[in-house]
Amino acid sequence: MRLDGASVLLTGASGGIGNAIARALHARGASVKLSARRGDVLERLREELGGAAEVVPADLADRASVSALIERAGELDVLVANAGLPATGGLDSFSPEELDRALDVNLRAPLQLARALVPGMVERGRGHVVLISSVSGKVASPNSSVYSATKFGLRAFGQGLRQDLHGTGVGVTTVFPGFISDAGMWADAGMKTPTGVGTRSPEQVANAVVKGIERNKAELDVAPLTLRAGALLAAVAPGLSARTQRLVGGVDISAELASRQADKR
Ligand SMILES: NC(=O)c1ccc[n+]([C@@H]2O[C@H](COP(=O)([O-])OP(=O)(O)OC[C@H]3O[C@@H](n4cnc5c(N)ncnc54)[C@H](OP(=O)(O)O)[C@@H]3O)[C@@H](O)[C@H]2O)c1
Repeated sequence: MRLDGASVLLTGASGGIGNAIARALHARGASVKLSARRGDVLERLREELGGAAEVVPADLADRASVSALIERAGELDVLVANAGLPATGGLDSFSPEELDRALDVNLRAPLQLARALVPGMVERGRGHVVLISSVSGKVASPNSSVYSATKFGLRAFGQGLRQDLHGTGVGVTTVFPGFISDAGMWADAGMKTPTGVGTRSPEQVANAVVKGIERNKAELDVAPLTLRAGALLAAVAPGLSARTQRLVGGVDISAELASRQADKR
Protein backbone atom coordinates (compact mmCIF):
# COMPACT_ATOMS: atom_id res chain seq x y z
CA MET A 1 0.00 0.00 0.00
CA ARG A 2 1.00 3.63 -0.44
CA LEU A 3 2.24 5.43 2.66
CA ASP A 4 1.51 8.90 1.32
CA GLY A 5 -1.44 10.19 3.35
CA ALA A 6 -1.66 7.01 5.45
CA SER A 7 -2.32 7.20 9.18
CA VAL A 8 0.16 5.14 11.23
CA LEU A 9 0.43 4.15 14.89
CA LEU A 10 4.06 3.54 15.85
CA THR A 11 4.89 2.09 19.28
CA GLY A 12 8.36 2.43 20.77
CA ALA A 13 8.74 5.72 18.88
CA SER A 14 11.02 7.18 21.58
CA GLY A 15 13.67 4.47 21.11
CA GLY A 16 16.63 4.14 18.74
CA ILE A 17 14.88 2.12 16.03
CA GLY A 18 11.51 3.82 16.61
CA ASN A 19 13.03 7.25 15.93
CA ALA A 20 14.36 6.05 12.59
CA ILE A 21 11.04 4.39 11.65
CA ALA A 22 9.12 7.57 12.52
CA ARG A 23 11.37 9.66 10.29
CA ALA A 24 11.17 7.20 7.38
CA LEU A 25 7.36 6.97 7.53
CA HIS A 26 7.06 10.75 7.82
CA ALA A 27 9.38 11.21 4.82
CA ARG A 28 6.98 8.98 2.81
CA GLY A 29 4.09 11.31 3.59
CA ALA A 30 2.44 9.30 6.38
CA SER A 31 0.94 10.99 9.43
CA VAL A 32 2.46 9.20 12.40
CA LYS A 33 1.00 8.76 15.89
CA LEU A 34 4.05 8.43 18.12
CA SER A 35 3.63 6.21 21.17
CA ALA A 36 5.87 5.25 24.14
CA ARG A 37 5.95 6.14 27.85
CA ARG A 38 8.39 9.09 27.65
CA GLY A 39 6.14 11.91 26.45
CA ASP A 40 8.96 14.49 26.52
CA VAL A 41 11.10 12.48 24.10
CA LEU A 42 8.09 11.95 21.82
CA GLU A 43 7.29 15.68 21.96
CA ARG A 44 10.80 16.54 20.72
CA LEU A 45 10.39 14.08 17.83
CA ARG A 46 6.97 15.53 17.01
CA GLU A 47 8.47 19.04 16.88
CA GLU A 48 11.17 17.76 14.51
CA LEU A 49 8.62 16.07 12.24
CA GLY A 50 6.10 18.92 12.30
CA GLY A 51 2.37 19.04 11.54
CA ALA A 52 1.45 15.50 10.53
CA ALA A 53 2.84 13.84 13.69
CA GLU A 54 0.95 13.39 16.96
CA VAL A 55 2.01 12.18 20.42
CA VAL A 56 -0.09 9.42 22.05
CA PRO A 57 1.76 8.27 25.21
CA ALA A 58 1.00 4.83 26.65
CA ASP A 59 2.49 2.22 28.97
CA LEU A 60 2.08 -1.08 27.14
CA ALA A 61 2.65 -3.03 30.38
CA ASP A 62 -0.54 -1.47 31.75
CA ARG A 63 -3.73 -3.00 30.35
CA ALA A 64 -5.84 0.10 30.94
CA SER A 65 -3.24 2.19 29.14
CA VAL A 66 -3.30 -0.18 26.12
CA SER A 67 -7.11 0.14 25.97
CA ALA A 68 -6.87 3.94 26.23
CA LEU A 69 -4.29 3.98 23.42
CA ILE A 70 -6.64 1.95 21.19
CA GLU A 71 -9.47 4.41 21.92
CA ARG A 72 -7.27 7.40 21.22
CA ALA A 73 -5.62 6.02 18.10
CA GLY A 74 -8.89 6.09 16.15
CA GLU A 75 -9.02 5.02 12.51
CA LEU A 76 -5.63 3.82 11.27
CA ASP A 77 -4.15 2.44 8.05
CA VAL A 78 -0.96 1.00 9.55
CA LEU A 79 0.19 -0.40 12.90
CA VAL A 80 3.94 -0.66 13.51
CA ALA A 81 4.41 -2.66 16.74
CA ASN A 82 8.00 -1.81 17.53
CA ALA A 83 8.14 -1.27 21.33
CA GLY A 84 10.15 -3.90 23.14
CA LEU A 85 12.20 -4.70 26.23
CA PRO A 86 15.51 -6.59 25.98
CA ALA A 87 14.31 -9.11 28.64
CA THR A 88 17.74 -10.75 28.78
CA GLY A 89 18.98 -13.01 31.58
CA GLY A 90 18.16 -16.45 32.93
CA LEU A 91 14.52 -17.23 33.73
CA ASP A 92 15.29 -17.54 37.45
CA SER A 93 16.60 -13.97 37.49
CA PHE A 94 13.15 -12.55 36.59
CA SER A 95 10.67 -11.50 39.24
CA PRO A 96 7.08 -12.48 38.37
CA GLU A 97 6.38 -8.78 37.64
CA GLU A 98 9.39 -8.47 35.30
CA LEU A 99 8.34 -11.59 33.42
CA ASP A 100 4.80 -10.23 33.00
CA ARG A 101 6.14 -6.87 31.81
CA ALA A 102 8.30 -8.50 29.13
CA LEU A 103 5.39 -10.63 27.90
CA ASP A 104 2.97 -7.68 28.01
CA VAL A 105 5.15 -5.16 26.18
CA ASN A 106 6.79 -7.49 23.65
CA LEU A 107 3.92 -9.83 22.82
CA ARG A 108 0.55 -9.11 24.44
CA ALA A 109 0.37 -5.44 23.41
CA PRO A 110 1.08 -6.07 19.69
CA LEU A 111 -1.64 -8.76 19.63
CA GLN A 112 -4.17 -6.56 21.44
CA LEU A 113 -3.42 -3.57 19.21
CA ALA A 114 -3.78 -5.72 16.08
CA ARG A 115 -7.01 -7.30 17.40
CA ALA A 116 -8.53 -3.87 17.91
CA LEU A 117 -7.22 -2.08 14.81
CA VAL A 118 -7.29 -4.70 12.03
CA PRO A 119 -11.11 -4.99 11.70
CA GLY A 120 -11.32 -1.30 10.67
CA MET A 121 -8.57 -1.85 8.09
CA VAL A 122 -10.41 -4.89 6.70
CA GLU A 123 -13.63 -2.91 6.51
CA ARG A 124 -11.88 -0.22 4.46
CA GLY A 125 -10.07 -2.89 2.38
CA ARG A 126 -6.67 -1.33 3.05
CA GLY A 127 -4.09 -1.58 5.80
CA HIS A 128 -0.89 -3.11 7.09
CA VAL A 129 0.54 -4.50 10.34
CA VAL A 130 4.30 -4.49 10.93
CA LEU A 131 5.75 -6.52 13.81
CA ILE A 132 9.32 -5.82 14.88
CA SER A 133 10.69 -9.17 15.97
CA SER A 134 14.44 -9.95 16.03
CA VAL A 135 16.91 -12.56 14.83
CA SER A 136 16.23 -13.80 18.38
CA GLY A 137 12.78 -14.64 16.98
CA LYS A 138 14.49 -17.27 14.83
CA VAL A 139 17.46 -18.37 16.98
CA ALA A 140 17.32 -18.91 20.73
CA SER A 141 20.53 -18.06 22.62
CA PRO A 142 21.77 -18.45 26.19
CA ASN A 143 20.24 -15.91 28.60
CA SER A 144 17.49 -14.96 26.17
CA SER A 145 14.74 -17.54 26.74
CA VAL A 146 12.17 -14.89 27.71
CA TYR A 147 13.11 -12.42 24.96
CA SER A 148 13.15 -15.21 22.36
CA ALA A 149 9.79 -16.53 23.55
CA THR A 150 8.26 -13.13 22.80
CA LYS A 151 10.07 -12.68 19.48
CA PHE A 152 9.35 -16.24 18.22
CA GLY A 153 5.76 -15.53 19.30
CA LEU A 154 5.59 -12.43 17.13
CA ARG A 155 6.84 -14.42 14.15
CA ALA A 156 4.16 -17.07 14.60
CA PHE A 157 1.49 -14.41 15.08
CA GLY A 158 2.59 -12.56 11.95
CA GLN A 159 2.59 -15.69 9.80
CA GLY A 160 -0.85 -16.79 11.01
CA LEU A 161 -2.46 -13.36 10.86
CA ARG A 162 -1.14 -12.84 7.34
CA GLN A 163 -2.82 -16.02 6.20
CA ASP A 164 -6.10 -15.06 7.88
CA LEU A 165 -6.03 -11.65 6.17
CA HIS A 166 -5.21 -12.98 2.71
CA GLY A 167 -7.45 -11.31 0.13
CA THR A 168 -8.70 -8.56 2.47
CA GLY A 169 -6.33 -5.81 1.31
CA VAL A 170 -4.57 -5.88 4.70
CA GLY A 171 -0.98 -7.12 4.81
CA VAL A 172 1.32 -8.26 7.60
CA THR A 173 5.11 -7.97 7.70
CA THR A 174 7.46 -9.27 10.37
CA VAL A 175 10.92 -7.66 10.51
CA PHE A 176 13.94 -9.45 12.03
CA PRO A 177 16.79 -7.06 12.96
CA GLY A 178 20.16 -8.45 14.00
CA PHE A 179 22.69 -6.36 15.97
CA ILE A 180 21.78 -2.71 15.38
CA SER A 181 24.52 -0.09 15.69
CA ASP A 182 24.35 3.63 16.55
CA ALA A 183 21.11 3.62 18.59
CA GLY A 184 18.73 1.22 20.30
CA MET A 185 19.03 -1.48 22.95
CA TRP A 186 22.16 -3.20 21.58
CA ALA A 187 24.03 0.07 21.01
CA ASP A 188 22.95 1.35 24.47
CA ALA A 189 24.49 -1.75 26.10
CA GLY A 190 27.92 -0.70 24.74
CA MET A 191 28.94 -4.28 23.91
CA LYS A 192 31.54 -5.17 21.30
CA THR A 193 29.83 -6.97 18.40
CA PRO A 194 31.00 -10.62 18.25
CA THR A 195 33.89 -11.23 15.82
CA GLY A 196 32.82 -11.87 12.24
CA VAL A 197 29.28 -10.61 12.80
CA GLY A 198 28.36 -7.30 11.19
CA THR A 199 25.79 -4.76 12.30
CA ARG A 200 22.97 -2.91 10.58
CA SER A 201 21.70 0.62 11.26
CA PRO A 202 18.33 1.83 12.60
CA GLU A 203 17.76 3.42 9.18
CA GLN A 204 18.11 0.00 7.52
CA VAL A 205 15.42 -1.36 9.87
CA ALA A 206 13.24 1.65 8.98
CA ASN A 207 13.77 1.00 5.25
CA ALA A 208 12.64 -2.60 5.78
CA VAL A 209 9.47 -1.36 7.49
CA VAL A 210 8.72 0.90 4.50
CA LYS A 211 9.50 -1.90 2.03
CA GLY A 212 7.33 -4.36 3.97
CA ILE A 213 4.34 -2.00 3.83
CA GLU A 214 4.79 -0.81 0.25
CA ARG A 215 5.50 -4.25 -1.24
CA ASN A 216 3.51 -6.37 1.21
CA LYS A 217 6.44 -8.60 2.19
CA ALA A 218 5.77 -11.42 4.67
CA GLU A 219 9.18 -11.37 6.41
CA LEU A 220 12.30 -9.24 6.12
CA ASP A 221 15.71 -9.84 7.74
CA VAL A 222 17.87 -6.82 8.55
CA ALA A 223 21.04 -8.73 9.35
CA PRO A 224 24.28 -9.77 7.68
CA LEU A 225 24.69 -13.13 5.97
CA THR A 226 26.43 -14.71 8.99
CA LEU A 227 23.40 -14.12 11.24
CA ARG A 228 20.93 -15.17 8.56
CA ALA A 229 22.92 -18.40 8.06
CA GLY A 230 22.83 -18.89 11.85
CA ALA A 231 19.04 -18.54 11.78
CA LEU A 232 18.82 -21.15 9.05
CA LEU A 233 21.01 -23.55 11.06
CA ALA A 234 18.85 -23.02 14.16
CA ALA A 235 15.72 -23.87 12.15
CA VAL A 236 17.06 -27.18 10.80
CA ALA A 237 19.48 -28.22 13.58
CA PRO A 238 18.76 -26.45 16.91
CA GLY A 239 21.12 -28.72 18.86
CA LEU A 240 24.04 -27.93 16.56
CA SER A 241 23.14 -24.22 16.71
CA ALA A 242 23.29 -24.32 20.53
CA ARG A 243 26.67 -26.15 20.52
CA THR A 244 28.09 -23.65 18.02
CA GLN A 245 26.94 -20.72 20.16
CA ARG A 246 28.59 -22.26 23.26
CA LEU A 247 31.83 -22.83 21.30
CA VAL A 248 32.08 -19.18 20.21
CA GLY A 249 31.56 -17.89 23.77
CA GLY A 250 27.83 -17.21 23.58
CA VAL A 251 27.25 -17.93 27.28
CA ASP A 252 29.73 -15.30 28.54
CA ILE A 253 28.70 -12.69 25.97
CA SER A 254 25.00 -13.10 26.72
CA ALA A 255 25.58 -13.01 30.49
CA GLU A 256 27.50 -9.74 30.11
CA LEU A 257 24.73 -8.33 27.90
CA ALA A 258 22.07 -9.31 30.43
CA SER A 259 23.94 -7.57 33.25
CA ARG A 260 24.23 -4.39 31.15
CA GLN A 261 20.51 -4.49 30.24
CA ALA A 262 19.26 -5.28 33.76
CA ASP A 263 17.97 -1.71 34.19
CA LYS A 264 15.64 -2.17 31.18
CA ARG A 265 13.57 -4.88 32.86
N1 LIG B 1 18.59 -2.68 18.86
C1 LIG B 1 18.74 -3.90 18.39
O1 LIG B 1 19.87 -4.34 18.17
C2 LIG B 1 17.53 -4.76 18.10
C3 LIG B 1 17.72 -5.98 17.47
C4 LIG B 1 16.63 -6.79 17.19
C5 LIG B 1 15.36 -6.37 17.52
N2 LIG B 1 15.19 -5.19 18.14
C6 LIG B 1 13.81 -4.78 18.46
O2 LIG B 1 13.56 -3.48 17.97
C7 LIG B 1 12.54 -2.84 18.74
C8 LIG B 1 13.02 -1.45 19.13
O3 LIG B 1 14.14 -1.58 19.99
P1 LIG B 1 15.29 -0.48 20.14
O4 LIG B 1 16.57 -1.13 19.83
O5 LIG B 1 14.91 0.79 19.47
O6 LIG B 1 15.25 -0.31 21.74
P2 LIG B 1 15.11 0.97 22.67
O7 LIG B 1 15.89 2.10 22.13
O8 LIG B 1 15.36 0.47 24.04
O9 LIG B 1 13.56 1.32 22.49
C9 LIG B 1 12.55 0.56 23.09
C10 LIG B 1 11.24 1.29 22.88
O10 LIG B 1 10.20 0.55 23.54
C11 LIG B 1 9.48 1.44 24.37
N3 LIG B 1 8.96 0.77 25.56
C12 LIG B 1 9.64 0.06 26.49
N4 LIG B 1 8.83 -0.30 27.49
C13 LIG B 1 7.60 0.21 27.20
C14 LIG B 1 6.35 0.21 27.87
N5 LIG B 1 6.17 -0.40 29.07
N6 LIG B 1 5.31 0.84 27.28
C15 LIG B 1 5.47 1.47 26.10
N7 LIG B 1 6.63 1.51 25.42
C16 LIG B 1 7.68 0.90 25.97
C17 LIG B 1 10.48 2.51 24.78
O11 LIG B 1 9.83 3.72 25.09
P3 LIG B 1 9.71 4.38 26.55
O12 LIG B 1 10.92 3.97 27.34
O13 LIG B 1 9.63 5.85 26.28
O14 LIG B 1 8.43 3.83 27.07
C18 LIG B 1 11.25 2.68 23.49
O15 LIG B 1 10.58 3.57 22.64
C19 LIG B 1 12.29 -3.77 19.95
O16 LIG B 1 11.13 -4.52 19.74
C20 LIG B 1 13.51 -4.67 19.95
O17 LIG B 1 13.25 -5.92 20.54
C21 LIG B 1 16.23 -4.36 18.44
